[in-house]
Amino acid sequence: MHKSIFAAMAALAILAADQAVAEPVNHMRERVRQWQIRALENAIGKERAAELLAAKPSPEIVGGSTAAAGRWPWQVGLVQASILDNFNAQFCGGTLVDDLFVVTAAHCITENNGSVTPKAQIRVLTGTQSLLTGGTRRVVDQIVRHPNYNDATTDFDVAVIKLRTAAPGKKARLLTAAQEAELAATGDRAYVTGWGSLTGGNSFPNQLQEVNVPIVSRTNCNDSNSYDGLITPRMICAGVSAGGKDSCQGDSGGPLVVRDAENRYEILAGVVSWGFGCAEPNLFGVYSRVAVLRNWIAQTMAALSPEVAAKEESTSCADLRGSSQSACLDGLSLAPK
Ligand code: ARG
Repeated sequence: MHKSIFAAMAALAILAADQAVAEPVNHMRERVRQWQIRALENAIGKERAAELLAAKPSPEIVGGSTAAAGRWPWQVGLVQASILDNFNAQFCGGTLVDDLFVVTAAHCITENNGSVTPKAQIRVLTGTQSLLTGGTRRVVDQIVRHPNYNDATTDFDVAVIKLRTAAPGKKARLLTAAQEAELAATGDRAYVTGWGSLTGGNSFPNQLQEVNVPIVSRTNCNDSNSYDGLITPRMICAGVSAGGKDSCQGDSGGPLVVRDAENRYEILAGVVSWGFGCAEPNLFGVYSRVAVLRNWIAQTMAALSPEVAAKEESTSCADLRGSSQSACLDGLSLAPK
């Protein structure tokens, strides 16, 4: 009698343990992954796409290393609200550019039917380098996607998320059009960061990864041996021709930062968007180009909170060196209001 009760209890305990270790399904991560595969197939055909995807299982940000805790304080993770542990819930990255605002990729918050993901399904994880411990999950107040976002071409791949509660800590600053030639020129170094993973496998890092890559010219990136015309003016490329260093699946929405006048990597120049495979020779990482998308980002933030835009305008010139800085300030004061 006793025995059978114990046996039943033991069986229940095993059942419970089984349930506890069963991997929750991250349908958002899967959706983003499928989106990238479809884009690849559309662009180069199913066969070549399959070849590329099989070529290299690249486990995380490729060719990078674990970031020191606290080095990228503006990095956030988009997590699926229904999955409670951050490691299994993370599906994209994002960048804090203000206490209440995160910049991310439009494709991260776009459902298969084209609609914007309901805000209740997403939380924003702030203030942590590890997906295993620490950080704060913040409720999303609003998601605004760029009105010109094109799911087929990935043009205008940007969105703004407003948080319900303010996130403390240092923010990345948005690169302006006037700053681009000086701070994000061809060959300039940039850092891309994220918890990104591979297509298909289950090897996700739990510590934030970083990799240093140079900015690539539009001409080079649009070359026939590279993306052959797919790079629009809303995109900027970074990476090395030899391959081996790149962002990858799961890094999407996260930051590509360049150096300010004091050599600090704090200026947001790009948002992780797409690529054919990861770290393949001549197939650079493609990023949404903040210099041209900044006006929309700033306007969107301003519309949701008027005090933000004014602050943005006055600080952007401070990132330039000497004469460019005075020219920038002049331009501001001369600019028609
Ligand atoms: N679209 C991917 C994502 O959703 C990011 C791909 C970046 N690829 C690259 N080769 N840099 O996470």
